[in-house]
Amino acid sequence: MSVTVIDHPLIQHKLTLMRDRTTGPKDFRELLEEIAMLMAYEVTRTIALEDIQVQGPLGPCDGKTISGKKLGVVPILRAGLGMVGGILRLVPNAKVGHIGLYRDETTLQPVEYYCKLPEDLAERDLFLLDPMLATGGSAAAAVEFLKKRGARSKNIKFLCLLCSPKGIEVLQQSDPEVDIYTASIDQALNDRGYILPGLGDAGDRLFGTM
Ligand code: PRP
Ligand code: URA
Repeated sequence: MSVTVIDHPLIQHKLTLMRDRTTGPKDFRELLEEIAMLMAYEVTRTIALEDIQVQGPLGPCDGKTISGKKLGVVPILRAGLGMVGGILRLVPNAKVGHIGLYRDETTLQPVEYYCKLPEDLAERDLFLLDPMLATGGSAAAAVEFLKKRGARSKNIKFLCLLCSPKGIEVLQQSDPEVDIYTASIDQALNDRGYILPGLGDAGDRLFGTM
């Protein structure tokens, strides 16, 4: 498993705006979508290409085209939904699955409430989306859902905005083949499982449910 911190200046600038407690839901949503789009640019860097020839205005022209490997985008509800639009701006033909999980506030364990995924998961490269990798429980459970329905670990990339060292460790231990892409590895978790310094509750800030 690799952990890639995408430290593009635009991402870091937008992330700082998202961390600011005075940023309201409208701006928070827009910033998350923009960062997700910029992350998609980086994460799709290794997509396979094949040669193609097109007829240009001045004659034949050799070019490249994406070789047709299918993509799937899977947000973890709720907060992962905020990343879907940005990713689809760059890969509009990807199928979208949904995994509904929430953290029990006392045990911090993930609780499943919804799962709807494309049937041909085994054939797809999958981007699993959640802005927050905190204790790692939700991400690890979502990876297990995907695998139970046929996805291959090596084809799953987990995209998040922030992660804690603990979250990385838990996801790595649960599946060493899933690569992590993030905008920041923050310092720690507090005693309620929140990322420090983090940005608070991503779902609440996204949907204005504070
Ligand atoms: C948040 C976040 C992740 C999870 C991360 O969701 O969006 O899914 O917590 O925490 P973990 O790594 O400790 O599992 P939450 O449970 O608050 O649900 P919500 O998105 O519906 O608000
Ligand atoms: N979920 C969030 O939304 N924020 C955190 O800091 C941890 C889990």
